[in-house]
Amino acid sequence: MPPTRHPSKNTAHEAPHTGDPAKLPGDDRAHDEPSPAALKSAFAQFTSGVTVVLGRHEGALFGMTISAFTTVSLHPPLVLVCVGRSASQHDALVAADTLGISILAQTQHAEAARLAGPGDRFTELRHVAGAKRGVPLLEDALAWLEVDVAERRAVGDHTILLLAVRAASTRDGMPLLYGQRRFGRFEVLL
Ligand SMILES: Cc1cc2nc3c(=O)[nH]c(=O)nc-3n(C[C@H](O)[C@H](O)[C@H](O)COP(=O)(O)O)c2cc1C
Repeated sequence: MPPTRHPSKNTAHEAPHTGDPAKLPGDDRAHDEPSPAALKSAFAQFTSGVTVVLGRHEGALFGMTISAFTTVSLHPPLVLVCVGRSASQHDALVAADTLGISILAQTQHAEAARLAGPGDRFTELRHVAGAKRGVPLLEDALAWLEVDVAERRAVGDHTILLLAVRAASTRDGMPLLYGQRRFGRFEVLL
């Protein structure tokens, strides 16, 4: 059942003005914003594919597992990813001019976890250089995109990177999925 809405509390202009100069009228965070726990639970129900976004700076790899990947446009070819501003890899990803996006196959759950985890992410990581931009791409992925960073936009606690796709390739296989905070498989129903 969807959560009950409280019409009297839903519009910004109805927020009471507290007189606190730090809290502007219309800034209804205090009483109207869902808790982080409620948000995380709801967001966890959205199941998606999994990507690993990698770059290279002065010879060293950087990057991480990202599920906030969205196709945006075919003409011109654009995708976006959202990178948490508190992520250790944020600054390197945002500073990059070119990146490699690997769309993971279902066999790659260990790599997805490794590239999100606290341990060493990059030693002996099985990757190849993309033919067009030379960006790092994971071996055994299902699809690969070589991208140029077209736009960077700080939004809330994330930065959205709008990415122009310069090369795309695919192999046969099944995708890795992530939902309800777990990795899983794609099952065809129709
Ligand atoms: C399946 C999966 C998807 C993720 N998707 C994103 C994402 O879209 N954006 C993001 O900023 N972090 C995402 N993360 C978290 C990062 O990969 C990483 O775990 C996080 O930045 C913590 O790493 P750090 O301690 O090096 O900062 C995801 C993690 C997992 C396991």
